Amino acid sequence: MVVEDEEKLRRVVQLHLESMDFEVDGVASAEQGLPLAASADLVITDLRLPGMDGIQFIKQLHGRGAPAAVIVMTAHGSVETAVEAMKLGAADFLQKPFSLDHLATVVQKVMAVQALRDENRRMRDELDGRYQFDNIIGRSAAMRDIFQTVERVAPTRATVLLAGESGVGKDMIARAIHHHSPRSRHPFVKINCTALPENLMESELFGYEKGAFTGASVSKPGKFEQADQGTAFLDEIGDVPGNIQVKLLRILQERQFERLGSNLTRNVDVRVIAATNVDLRAALEEGRFREDLYYRLNVVPINIPPLRQRREDIPFLALHFVTKLSKDLGSRAKDISPAAVDRLLEYSWPGNVRELENTIERSLVLASGETLQAGDMRIEAARTGSPSAAQPQTAPLLPEGETLEHWEQMMIKEAMRRSNGNKSQAARMLGLTRNALRYRLSQMGMDGGAEVPGE
Ligand SMILES: Nc1ncnc2c1ncn2[C@@H]1O[C@H](COP(=O)(O)OP(=O)(O)OP(=O)(O)O)[C@@H](O)[C@H]1O
Ligand SMILES: [Mg+2]
Repeated sequence: MVVEDEEKLRRVVQLHLESMDFEVDGVASAEQGLPLAASADLVITDLRLPGMDGIQFIKQLHGRGAPAAVIVMTAHGSVETAVEAMKLGAADFLQKPFSLDHLATVVQKVMAVQALRDENRRMRDELDGRYQFDNIIGRSAAMRDIFQTVERVAPTRATVLLAGESGVGKDMIARAIHHHSPRSRHPFVKINCTALPENLMESELFGYEKGAFTGASVSKPGKFEQADQGTAFLDEIGDVPGNIQVKLLRILQERQFERLGSNLTRNVDVRVIAATNVDLRAALEEGRFREDLYYRLNVVPINIPPLRQRREDIPFLALHFVTKLSKDLGSRAKDISPAAVDRLLEYSWPGNVRELENTIERSLVLASGETLQAGDMRIEAARTGSPSAAQPQTAPLLPEGETLEHWEQMMIKEAMRRSNGNKSQAARMLGLTRNALRYRLSQMGMDGGAEVPGE
């Protein structure tokens, strides 16, 4: 739509746009334009008009939520009004007199941006609808199947075994199952099985009684007790040692266990979700994982394919992360260009969705424009030692984001806490001499009877 009171100019602009294959309405005032604006993709308006002026007109268009992009035409010497119009959301401006070539260039540029916005809006609408479950994005057939399974299985107490490479979304799915279950008001307790040394694992899972071992000066409930009426999420189940596998089996079959150092059998009402990023069947064949436990866990298997096997999810995930992270990071970029998405589609994503999310985050931090371009993509290809099921020998031993040093400090603090600050007892728990412990405490700035901060 062209809004221009000067008839000759209006006709020239209209004819030129029609020669570019646009359908054009030409009107002489804002009042005439308003009722037509809802169906326009683009409004080109003069700022100085009889009756309602261009600025008022733009405000009115916004008030009606009209989807059109706006280009303003300004007379020579009235740039301030053009700036005001741009602040109100006008996409560009043309200073009179302008050439028809310049008109064509500006119109084409604005329409291209508009098309991109529409495309992103369409994708966002789709995301809001079918291709999203909570905040989990997935358009591929595999992910939609998974959403259906989650919906069906969530209301039950059935045990679920999630399998998939690192970063495919196992944690997210586990939480979604809990969230959509009648247990959602009760705790979701995550237990990272890799992160625990065997002797600690047992007391973590099942708790202990006062005096169960040196330093157990008070009784403590385990994770399963904490998860009573809720959900226990056993991450990296493939790493659980044999003697604890037996106890897990009993939890699954009878919902019963004893605390360490106690004969009292306790009952717990818990739903178990387990996850693994290695193929448990290999562990079965090698005898590292009990067959009976495997079948108890594998009641409802959910296999989440790696991202490289569901590439159609990549554009949707990318847009989701741009929207989400742009807000968090206060970045100017709100969109991603098709060429940038193409770059993402070419890569194999050994670190799966987590790696994609990190890549978008890095790109947002370093980008300067309003739309992420192909050149902004910071893909760190061929990282060495990337965690993936294809290279289990390089899979991380420590929980994500954890360092050995911090881990050691946590163990030391925990030992000090359990021994109520008694260094001899704490040293025994850690298999250290008292002097070795004192040395480490001094390194941590915790020697000399300092208070032990509770974790
Ligand atoms: N489908 C998805 N939609 C949106 N975000 C996702 C999706 N899948 C994964 N993510 C994001 O990717 C990251 C990794 O996901 P998550 O921690 O669930 O993976 P995981 O399979 O548990 O990995 P690991 O085996 O390393 O524990 C998280 O930040 C999560 O928010
Ligand atoms: Mg996880």
